[in-house]
Amino acid sequence: MNRRVLISTLFILYVTILTGCQSLPESDSKNAKLYVAKCSGCHKAPSPADHPYKLWDRLFTMMERGYQHPDMPPLSQKEWLTIREYFQKYALPDPENPSKP
Ligand code: HEC
Repeated sequence: MNRRVLISTLFILYVTILTGCQSLPESDSKNAKLYVAKCSGCHKAPSPADHPYKLWDRLFTMMERGYQHPDMPPLSQKEWLTIREYFQKYALPDPENPSKP
């Protein structure tokens, strides 16, 4: 991934957290609860419906590799899968390829 894409990705996501006021879809579901438990300790957990999955995929891939969030307790592979599943289900359609999530 080139640096400009990385920086703009982080910027978009950062703005989401600062301005985010979307409530979470299906917030009572098991997947949503895991996500909130893991991701809202330090800041408001952004809603999957804020962005297409492609953007979330980039972020989660970085986080899985340990980039960013140095103080965060690592999530297990299974927890990442659960969170990814939740985001895949509720993310916005990809603007460049609307038939795919
Ligand atoms: C240990 C505290 C902590 C936890 C837990 C945490 N975050 Fe963060 N997060 C931060 C801080 C601090 C920032 C501010 C940007 C920075 O300094 O990295 C941030 C920023 C972000 C951003 C903005 C873009 C960026 O990376 O800078 C996103 C998106 C994000 N977090 C998603 C998540 C998700 C998803 C989880 C759960 C897997 C999570 N966070 C859990 C502390 C945390």
